[in-house]
Amino acid sequence: MNLTVIGTGYVGLVSGTCFAEMGNTVTCIDIDEKKINDLKKGIIPIYEPGLEPMVIKNVKNNTLHFSTDLAHSLKKCDIAFIAVGTPMGEDGSADLQYVLQVASDIGKHMQQKLIIVDKSTVPVGTADKVHEEIKKQLEIRNVDIDFEVVSNPEFLKEGAAISDFLKPDRVVVGVASKEAEDTMRALYAPFFRIKDAFISMDVRSAEMTKYVANAMLATKISFMNEVSNICELVGADVNKVRIGIGSDSRIGYSFIYPGSGYGGSCFPKDVKALKRSAQQHGYTPRLIDAVEKVNNDQKMVIANKIVAKFGKDLKGHTFAIWGLSFKPETDDMREAPAIYIIKALVEKGAKIKAYDPKAMHEAQSFYLKGVKDIEYCESKYDTLNEANAMVLLTEWKEFRSPDFEEIKNRLKEAVIFDGRNQYSNLNLENKGFEYYQIGKK
Ligand code: UDX
Repeated sequence: MNLTVIGTGYVGLVSGTCFAEMGNTVTCIDIDEKKINDLKKGIIPIYEPGLEPMVIKNVKNNTLHFSTDLAHSLKKCDIAFIAVGTPMGEDGSADLQYVLQVASDIGKHMQQKLIIVDKSTVPVGTADKVHEEIKKQLEIRNVDIDFEVVSNPEFLKEGAAISDFLKPDRVVVGVASKEAEDTMRALYAPFFRIKDAFISMDVRSAEMTKYVANAMLATKISFMNEVSNICELVGADVNKVRIGIGSDSRIGYSFIYPGSGYGGSCFPKDVKALKRSAQQHGYTPRLIDAVEKVNNDQKMVIANKIVAKFGKDLKGHTFAIWGLSFKPETDDMREAPAIYIIKALVEKGAKIKAYDPKAMHEAQSFYLKGVKDIEYCESKYDTLNEANAMVLLTEWKEFRSPDFEEIKNRLKEAVIFDGRNQYSNLNLENKGFEYYQIGKK
């Protein structure tokens, strides 16, 4: 099929590249000329394992094109995907200005029968707004072209986006007609090698599914983080409790790891947007509201433990931070707990020595820009010299089994704060460390 993907952010770029990989002819569109020129040369704006070689291969094979010219791309197009950002508006709801601008541009330029797919995460009812906008432009042009707006939310995890796309657990599609359903089914058929996981439903339910999936996962995490705080107080070990409950197949092991709170581009934004959407319809969500509050507090648990150990005035103290990104295998720092923890420590007078395998540039140039007293180090061990404690905030693989003798020799005091419970099984106390973790005193 001939596909146009509008928006070369995370979702658009991964989707477009994977569709090309499956043999479609894809044009990825963006208004940012520099980005498009870079992509043509194989320069990828984000770090995502496996993405760069796949882009380069498909550009070479002529199956993947990058352009700023939407009108040209729509001349030969079966399906157009809207994959532009839906940032959080001031009131917590999703800001639809970019989505609706694209809808308007599609209406201005489409030439023949077209399926338009909302891939961006959008509140329930957005497909109707997109439909209205396109219809309005067609009326202005005084042309009658058949089109349908379909919802096809994305469930990609950063760091595993390529494999999530190529081998999806499920593909959710919200459609109004059998014809659009058949076209979408045919597009996704090559991705289901083992079992058909194509789930079609009405448009509003599909739009809702994305928010509910993310809010459910965020709820599991906040629930476990709350449990971890209770475990500490009652003298239980959350690591054991997690295994104990996860073994119940109704609960399962995934997304019940306590830590320093969830971050990223999706969970914080989508939980807020779902809450806002409910409020706009006159409902006061209680559970979803609590999920968000628990998460905000959880980001501070490690900082609070540091204060409990070293005191409120941290002048003269240095902390070695391992990990800045919101999770491993990404350079993304959006809503990363590290931002809040580092700022809280610096505010109390501490100095920071930080290392992250991928996110240091993001931190320096944006998320921690202007924050004084941070030194960015070349390696994890370099952060430790002159530091009072090591603080692990992101569970990158290279942090999993470090040389603890080296850590002890370099640190001023043998103290570790583990914000992701990476070392809870290692008996670090027996190795001479003072060890603090989440959910076990
Ligand atoms: C998430 C959804 O998983 C994905 O389906 C959706 O499309 C986008 O949002 P992502 O933001 O890439 O993907 O990250 P994910 O791997 O889901 O982790 C989210 C956050 O939860 C991270 O901060 C992670 O550290 C945290 N987390 C995850 C926990 O604290 N505990 C867990 O058990 C699992």
